[in-house]
Amino acid sequence: MAAAPAALALAGCAREADGQPVTRPATARSSTLKQAAPFPVGAAVGADRLDDPAYAELLVRHFDQITPENEMKSWMILQEDGSSDFSHADKIAAFARRHGLRLFGHTLIYYQEDPAPFRRLVGDRTGFERLFRSYIGQVAGRYAGQAVGWDVVNEAVHDDGDRLRGGVFQEALGLDYIGLAFEAAREADPQAVLFLNDYKLERDATKRRTFLRLCEALLRDGVPLGGIGTQSHIDLDTDPAVIGPAMRELAGLGLPIHVSETDMGLYSARLDFRSERDRLEAQARMYGTLAEAFFALPERQRFAFSTWGVRDQDSWLRRPRTDGYHPRANPLLFDDAGAPKPAFDAVVGAWTR
Ligand code: XIL
Repeated sequence: MAAAPAALALAGCAREADGQPVTRPATARSSTLKQAAPFPVGAAVGADRLDDPAYAELLVRHFDQITPENEMKSWMILQEDGSSDFSHADKIAAFARRHGLRLFGHTLIYYQEDPAPFRRLVGDRTGFERLFRSYIGQVAGRYAGQAVGWDVVNEAVHDDGDRLRGGVFQEALGLDYIGLAFEAAREADPQAVLFLNDYKLERDATKRRTFLRLCEALLRDGVPLGGIGTQSHIDLDTDPAVIGPAMRELAGLGLPIHVSETDMGLYSARLDFRSERDRLEAQARMYGTLAEAFFALPERQRFAFSTWGVRDQDSWLRRPRTDGYHPRANPLLFDDAGAPKPAFDAVVGAWTR
């Protein structure tokens, strides 16, 4: 676990009672995330926010990798008439180049999406597969040489945990769509690490097993699966004791692991807290546990640790109509003003002990 709250409070004191300066302990707050981590630390970003200087400064100071939150999804890129709009995705890629940040692609194929050009071809397997390959080739090819990795297929496992998802891609191509997507991505970008990414892999053992079986089957078939993405949107009522073993199990195949989208909403839990401060401390403990579990992985398997946003005000969980929405969800490491929260201290503490 990270430093106890008492130690964190003390860490801020630069003077002793007699007024003499004391050596400031190497505290979390004097560090940045990327200084603390011996692996890349990432954040999901929105193209529209990059023009906010406070946001951009905080992002570049603490993170060394960025994932477009929506801009590389097919609903942003693929237009009704079949043409592509890369303007938003390109803006993020250019920002990454300008600031020397790694770019992580998210996501080529997502069951939630139902783009009209694909929908029109359901029933025409040859035509659908041609578009499928060319779409993936176009998107992955555009950032080839820059993107360090891609979520090739997002959330392939059903929420129930015991079966795979449907969706327009599965409807048209059957489950072959998963392997085909990886092959097309590999062809377009031979260097990027290709990920299968999913959620609830910590707390739902059944879903984790189904996910790992799918990974094994893909590897057996020679599909170029190169990494495992665990989104880690973690509820505060998750038993922290499950996180370490789940992480180790996910790492059991020997593939690199990406904690790809972590956030921890303060109000999603069916837990009764006495105060906001208690919530923030519970959040910090859970973040510390996750950070520690990731840190404990073999070095070569630590691909990156990414949060789904930068400041609380940027979080999708603060936007109405999101599952888990709450106006004070505040699930990230930095508050609305960009100040580090107890969760930040816990994460840095886990990486610098
Ligand atoms: C979310 C974005 O954060 C929202 O802005 C958007 O409205 C819906 O998608 N898992 C994923 C991400 O893999 O793509 C989702 O992002 C969050 C859950």
